[in-house]
Amino acid sequence: MAALKIAGVLLTAASLVAAVPSPPLSTSVAETTLNVDVAIVGAGASGAYAAIRLKEDFGKTIAVIEKGSKLGGHVSTYDDPVAGKPFDFGVQSFNSYGPAEAFFTRLGIEFSPAPRVPLTQRFVDFKTGKEVPYVASSNEDRTAALQKFLQVSEPFEQYLLPGYWNFPAPADIPADLLLPFGEFVAKYNISAAVNQVFEVTGMGVGDIKKRLTMYVLSAFGPPMIRTFLGNGTIFTPNSRRNVEVYEKIQARLNSSLLLGSTVVQSTRSKTGHILWVRNHAACKYTLVRAAKLLIAIEPTKDNLAPFGLDKEEKAVFDKLTYQTVHAGIVTHPSLPVDVSLVNIPAAGAPTNYVELPKPDFNSRFDYMGQGADNFRVLLVGDDKFDTRKAKDLVAKNFKDMRKKGTLPAGGPDELTFKAWSDHGAMHMHFAAKEIKAGFIQRLYALQGRTQTWWTGGAFSHQFQAVLWAFDDVLLDRMLG
Ligand SMILES: Cc1cc2nc3c(=O)[nH]c(=O)nc-3n(C[C@H](O)[C@H](O)[C@H](O)COP(=O)(O)OP(=O)(O)OC[C@H]3O[C@@H](n4cnc5c(N)ncnc54)[C@H](O)[C@@H]3O)c2cc1C
Ligand SMILES: *[C@@H]1O[C@H](CO)[C@@H](O)[C@H](O)[C@H]1NC(C)=O
Ligand SMILES: *[C@@H]1O[C@H](CO)[C@@H](O)[C@H](O)[C@H]1NC(C)=O
Ligand SMILES: *[C@@H]1O[C@H](CO)[C@@H](O)[C@H](O)[C@H]1NC(C)=O
Repeated sequence: MAALKIAGVLLTAASLVAAVPSPPLSTSVAETTLNVDVAIVGAGASGAYAAIRLKEDFGKTIAVIEKGSKLGGHVSTYDDPVAGKPFDFGVQSFNSYGPAEAFFTRLGIEFSPAPRVPLTQRFVDFKTGKEVPYVASSNEDRTAALQKFLQVSEPFEQYLLPGYWNFPAPADIPADLLLPFGEFVAKYNISAAVNQVFEVTGMGVGDIKKRLTMYVLSAFGPPMIRTFLGNGTIFTPNSRRNVEVYEKIQARLNSSLLLGSTVVQSTRSKTGHILWVRNHAACKYTLVRAAKLLIAIEPTKDNLAPFGLDKEEKAVFDKLTYQTVHAGIVTHPSLPVDVSLVNIPAAGAPTNYVELPKPDFNSRFDYMGQGADNFRVLLVGDDKFDTRKAKDLVAKNFKDMRKKGTLPAGGPDELTFKAWSDHGAMHMHFAAKEIKAGFIQRLYALQGRTQTWWTGGAFSHQFQAVLWAFDDVLLDRMLG
């Protein structure tokens, strides 16, 4: 006990950013010590890509600490034992942006344009279960609106992509970027594009009408618009298992990986960090001593608690708010094959395209094709929207549609959940007043502070390929 205490005191004194949790762990709890150049926390899109580049291109020694039992974060591939086929219900595809295609080639993964399951859309207000007389925009109008959207958003690309390195100083921020998206849509008459923006990826931002245009552009911006206009491709591995990307990375990182593990305590300083990494299944600790730290997880309060944030880090991260996302595969004989049941509020009919569901919502039941009875659901909520609430909402949506005759009766009362992923916090954002007070710059000024570097959705955008491009810039800065 005395030894524990002494170690705790010594560590606190050695650290610039103390805050060792109580009771502090001594270094002697660890059976193994790893000394590395860079410790990476999180092995999803941004962490796993950075790990490969640090190890293989920069020749750095690394330790990758990943909470899950495998790599890949939001990638969820369900290998259906009955259908004998894979079904991706998390990440759907990869964009031909930045290093994406070259990275697939490097990993030895053959790829081709993502197959599309042709679906007929039916529009239902999931709040009531009743079908709504909504008329989707015509292809011509949608294409024209997307072209206009690209034309008016392309000038901002330099400030936003693949990260906010060149974001303008508060006085110089173009007013359009801070407009609520509903106003931006009205200003440029692009409402015919909004449904597609929302359905594909834009829904992640939550209340899209109110969300600042710069954040909608981070969920569906110029690279995405270009692919929908035919400039660029959307692809998947030929295996049609998106998780293959991360299985390949896992095999290459191998002994650098600490899976099923989190950092539970740390001391960070300019001259090096000490991380207490706990493997939760084995109840074993590894001490990771690293010159630099790369944090590649969403910077929520809980996630960052073990890192003893300093005053400035705390002040910046405290201002970020976020949505939560869940995705799953459900099945029931009443769900229609070859159909996408799309959640559209009654107020959206017939052509009020900016009226879209507000959190917490389930956006759809999409038939997943390949002759199986799998339907994808995709939900967005506030910070308290957990798995139980999300599943309850899906079950309720389904029951209401049966009650109103939108779906046929018969079969079991409840639908079956076949697979589920709680994607947790996503789409972190500041309010307009904070952006005007310089918070984007303060967020970016954290890069390199106390030899701690940051990547992932909160610093860039919620796309695999964009995050990989962001990492390329970040690693040059980190090691340059
Ligand atoms: C349903 C869904 C569909 C999507 N579809 C697409 C798509 O089709 N195309 C596309 O490009 N993008 C898509 N995205 C977005 C994309 O996947 C994300 O933007 C990207 O994964 C974010 O990368 P990241 O590195 O920030 O986080 P993640 O990929 O989530 O990685 C974070 C990793 O850190 C781990 N972790 C979390 N907390 C800790 C902790 N405390 N300690 C250690 N490890 C921890 C997690 O287990 C995870 O592996 C989709 C996202 C979702 C949710
Ligand atoms: C707005 O766009 C629609 C097509 O979506 C078009 O019919 C209409 O003429 C446009 N209005 C203006 C003022 O440009
Ligand atoms: C396609 O997009 C790229 C930018 O990614 C641009 O340079 C090019 O001009 C575009 N091509 C067409 C045909 O629009
Ligand atoms: C590393 O490779 C070995 C041999 O292929 C394998 O048994 C082990 O599970 C791998 N470790 C990880 C973390 O992938």
